[in-house]
Amino acid sequence: TNGKATNIVWHKSSVGKVHRQEVLQQKGCVIWITGLSGSGKSTLACALCQALYSRGKLAYILDGDNVRHGLNRDLSFKAEDRAENIRRIGEVAKLFADAGIICIASVISPYRKDRDACRSLLPEGDFIEVFMNVPLQICEARDPKGLYKLARAGKINGVYPPGFTGIDDPYEPPLNCELELPQKGNNCASPCEMAEIVISYLEEKGYLQ
Ligand code: PPS
Repeated sequence: TNGKATNIVWHKSSVGKVHRQEVLQQKGCVIWITGLSGSGKSTLACALCQALYSRGKLAYILDGDNVRHGLNRDLSFKAEDRAENIRRIGEVAKLFADAGIICIASVISPYRKDRDACRSLLPEGDFIEVFMNVPLQICEARDPKGLYKLARAGKINGVYPPGFTGIDDPYEPPLNCELELPQKGNNCASPCEMAEIVISYLEEKGYLQ
């Protein structure tokens, strides 16, 4: 059995997802925001959470940086640890969606197959992938945490090579995401404007009822 648990049986509760959604007057789903460091994932997540709250809708943010302080504190940035980071966040996001909550995951999630695995955990339509399509050049110019500078100098975590996404580690852009931001020809869109685009999508698909 490879040391894995056996003899485990799923226990069903009399209060299910439909009942929880009835209480909350919304549909649980996962908004998965992917993109390079400094592309604005966390900023969009916060703006979206705020905009939903203003409408009386409950959202919860799972931010890569934050989750790595607790649940995922044992994981590094090598490919297999990034995969495990994304797997756990995907599983937690699934629980939040099942709770009826709009779960906003903001994580680089550089590998397509890891994101697709998270998508496959959810019912069709409930995984909404949002690609923050901001070129490396712009992310690096912003460098909000000074990490690109450190990576270029080969000083991330004292490790060389740094293995920093976009510098010497891969980022695989989505091929079929639900939304791409900022939208073409609108590079000046503010976080609030981008949040409204996501909200319109949720409204159109019936997630806000
Ligand atoms: S991943 O790839 O999805 O597992 O990454 P994630 O959990 O979202 O964490 C990304 C944040 O960690 C910081 N950081 C790094 N990012 C990329 N590569 C390397 N080597 C690295 N080391 C530290 C960085 O601040 C990321 O924050 P964001 O919010 O994306 O800017």
